Amino acid sequence: MKEKTAFITGANKGIGFGIAKHLGLSGWRIIIGARNQERAEKAIRELTALGIDVPGWVCVELADLASVENAARELNDKHPELSLLVNNAGIPGDMGVDSLHTEIGDIRETLEVNFVGTFALTKLLMPLLAKNHGRIVNVTVPSEISPYWHPLAYVTSKAAQNAMMGVMAIEFQQHNTPLEIFSVHPGPTTTDLNGNMSLPGFHDIDTVGEKMAELINDGQSHQGEFVELYPIVKED
Ligand SMILES: NC(=O)c1ccc[n+]([C@@H]2O[C@H](COP(=O)([O-])OP(=O)(O)OC[C@H]3O[C@@H](n4cnc5c(N)ncnc54)[C@H](OP(=O)(O)O)[C@@H]3O)[C@@H](O)[C@H]2O)c1
Repeated sequence: MKEKTAFITGANKGIGFGIAKHLGLSGWRIIIGARNQERAEKAIRELTALGIDVPGWVCVELADLASVENAARELNDKHPELSLLVNNAGIPGDMGVDSLHTEIGDIRETLEVNFVGTFALTKLLMPLLAKNHGRIVNVTVPSEISPYWHPLAYVTSKAAQNAMMGVMAIEFQQHNTPLEIFSVHPGPTTTDLNGNMSLPGFHDIDTVGEKMAELINDGQSHQGEFVELYPIVKED
């Protein structure tokens, strides 16, 4: 049977933890991506208490390329069977300002984490994932700009990440690389990222984690897709 080992960035809490939990309950071995030992170990304790196979955690600070390189090296050395990367870790940037009042430093920091670090990690793990005929799943928001919600740093960084997904999917197909990449918009989810907002239409991390695991386990190809976990139904 094919080994099923997943590495999830930002798996210590929020949506990443929900994905770790439900992928783990469905039989995946889970390696936690986190940037702090205490938080990683807390997540490992909670997951192993549910009977989930968690061989450990790997430190990854996406804003620091040396940390990303160390994480990729550790995964290559210790987990050569890795077949799934979930690019989940992300930051919101300053969501409370319009573009005129957005700090350049905020744009830079948000892009560094949500795009540059995420790209660097993906790039470094591509050979290993391809060897294992694996998959890359990005957790993101749509690139289209909504008139109701459009924080510049966040949506710009995610648009870049979405473009990365599209480019890689085309390249994998054109080069016959045995690797798949797709993006998932989980929809509004109550987490620290939004100050644990819980308005109508928001979901909890368990519900989202379970649906994400169902999608990843559905046996279908999603190469190049942008999947809405909660599709918007247009009324006539
Ligand atoms: N919540 C939503 O409504 C929503 C909607 C659409 C998409 N998303 C996306 O879902 C993903 C997860 O967000 P969430 O809502 O679960 O947020 P969250 O609860 O704040 O969790 C974010 C995770 O990312 C990690 N992280 C933050 N900065 C990092 C960095 N520089 N390097 C490595 N890890 C870092 C955090 O680690 P620490 O614990 O160490 O800070 C944490 O594990 C994000 O990509 C977000 O854009 C969220």
